Amino acid sequence: MYKKINLISKEVSECTKCSLVKHRKQPVFGTGSVNADLMFVGEAPGAEEDRLGVPFVGRSGKLLDNLLLEEMNMDRSECYIANVVKCRPPGNRDPKLEEIESCRPFLETQLEIIKPRVIITLGNFSTRLLLNTKIGITKLRGEVYEYLGCTLIPTFHPAAALRGRVGVIENMRTDLRKAKEIING
Ligand code: URA
Repeated sequence: MYKKINLISKEVSECTKCSLVKHRKQPVFGTGSVNADLMFVGEAPGAEEDRLGVPFVGRSGKLLDNLLLEEMNMDRSECYIANVVKCRPPGNRDPKLEEIESCRPFLETQLEIIKPRVIITLGNFSTRLLLNTKIGITKLRGEVYEYLGCTLIPTFHPAAALRGRVGVIENMRTDLRKAKEIING
């Protein structure tokens, strides 16, 4: 398991499959426990993540850490955190379809290796990719789905909560509590 994840991490560090390689300081592969019951999937690294090589270490990450602690009594080291796209899109623009497609096998392999009980997708990009749909997060959230034997819970991206959208943070809290219930059986 550790060997496999290290191999794929090395592959990502050497990847030049899309043009994001020109802009990145370093790829952001993913962090946490490979034995985790819970895996978060975000969108793409931002400036802080690009600088440090670790996902969700900026403002969105701080919010995610707080919600995780408050609703699940968990530290990020107990779960696994990754993104759809491993390299920062310049200026934090949305990842393009070709970038998502070229990075997709890396995420799929991470999910296969970790096989979490619950996957929480954060926002539109990861939710649409894993559920293979064009439907948006606002319609999809509130239900649980199945992804290759794991329970998938779509929720909002923490950046949406930081933008102050009404109800977002409460909905995220509800979704994390649901994940906890499932994990604790
Ligand atoms: N937003 C994401 O989707 N991922 C990160 O790692 C940071 C911010």
